[in-house]
Order: sequence, then structure tokens, then C-alpha cells
Amino acid sequence: MSDKPFAPAANRNREPILEVLRSEFADRHRVLEIGSGTGQHAVWFAHHLRHLAWQTSDLQDRLAGISAWVSSAALANLAQPVELDVMSTTDLPGNYDAVFSANTAHIMDIDAVREMFRLVGRSLPEGGKFLLYGPFNMQGRFTSESNQAFDASLRAQDPSMGIRDIEVLDRFGSEAGLARSDLYAMPANNFVAVWIRAGRSGFQGDAAADAAS
Ligand SMILES: C[S@@+](CC[C@H](N)C(=O)[O-])C[C@H]1O[C@@H](n2cnc3c(N)ncnc32)[C@H](O)[C@@H]1O
Repeated sequence: MSDKPFAPAANRNREPILEVLRSEFADRHRVLEIGSGTGQHAVWFAHHLRHLAWQTSDLQDRLAGISAWVSSAALANLAQPVELDVMSTTDLPGNYDAVFSANTAHIMDIDAVREMFRLVGRSLPEGGKFLLYGPFNMQGRFTSESNQAFDASLRAQDPSMGIRDIEVLDRFGSEAGLARSDLYAMPANNFVAVWIRAGRSGFQGDAAADAAS
């Protein structure tokens, strides 16, 4: 279909991300993607990971494009997108044991990033996984000159956008009962961070705060 949106970067990074998903999502069943964008990632991952039921989602203005990709892929394990704005959605639209999101933390403003973690933490069961792909800063520092230039270009477009510190994301995670279990270095100075939902009964905030340090 000619009206399918296309992001070249999504085709460049889909293979290395898929390799992480193959192991991290090997024992998962139902995945919600937040901020599916064009829908390219969803088609690629659902095609290669047939054991997963993959739910796409995004803001209203993205849904038609995602839907075009989902329709043309015609995969039994890939669902039409649902509208999901992390600022207004109170519960995930279904039951999931994993959430995936790519390149959203530097686009959303910082309040929305916090809300994304809250939404994920509220909605995942104990042991549920949240995987977030993108560029992150480490200890307040850019990991490359290209990321620094990218951050400057984002902030020039909109001062509320920008590359986030992994420590800040860990703090949002700990506040939401999500403790980071892994951080994969990816091509082009990106990462995949993995957080696990702690048990609700034992969660006091302290254990998660340790994970943030
Ligand atoms: C740079 S795009 C990334 C798209 C895709 N995940 C990828 O990696 O190609 C950022 C996405 O975040 C979505 N987004 C921005 N604010 C959002 C919000 N408040 N709730 C949910 N999604 C949001 C945008 O609509 C957009 O699809």
C-alpha cells in the first residue's frame, strides 16, 4: 500500500532489536507496544516472533498509518492499533506480560515519560517486563557526539524533548515498582533497557530504589 508511512531508521534498527526480543521475550505471550509510530517495527517483530500476540498503540494521528501496515501484513498475531496516550490512559487496553516501546522517551516530555512508567508499572503483573529502546545518557553525559547533536536538534524543535538520563528512567521505574534488570548496548549509540515488575505485596519502593542506584 502506498499510503503506509515509512521511517528508514526503523528498518535499520529492527534486526538488532529483534535479537534482544528473541531472548527477553522468549517466555512472553502478550506484548503491548507504546508509540508504535509507523507500525514497521510491529510488523517485523510479530512476523519473527509468532509466539507473541503483539498489540500496537499510539496517539490518534498515528493510528491510520499503523493500521495500513497491520492490514497489509495480515498476521494472526498482530492486532490493529488502539489509541493510547500515556498522559490520559489509566489502564492498559488488555492484559499483557510485556510492554515494548522504541524511541519514545526523548520525544515525550518528561512528565509523559514518568506517566509511561506509572502506566506500565500499574498494569504489568509481577515479573512483567518493560523494554525501552532508544538513546540514553549515562550519569548525565552523552554517550557520543552524535547523540549530543541529536539532543540539540530535538531541543531546538521543542525544548520539552531530549535524550533522557538512564538514572532518571530508573528512578521513574523504581517509583512504579519496576527494577532494571539489564541494559543492552545497541548499534548507533542506542540501548535497550529492561525493567521487571516487582511483586506487589513485597514492593515498598526501597528495593526498586536500590535498583536505581
Ligand atoms: C520517534 S517516534 C517512534 C516511533 C517508533 N516506535 C519507532 O521507533 O520508529 C515517537 C512516537 O511516540 C509517540 N508518542 C508521543 N507522545 C506520546 C504519548 N503521550 N503517548 C503515547 N505515544 C506517544 C508518537 O506518536 C510517536 O509515534
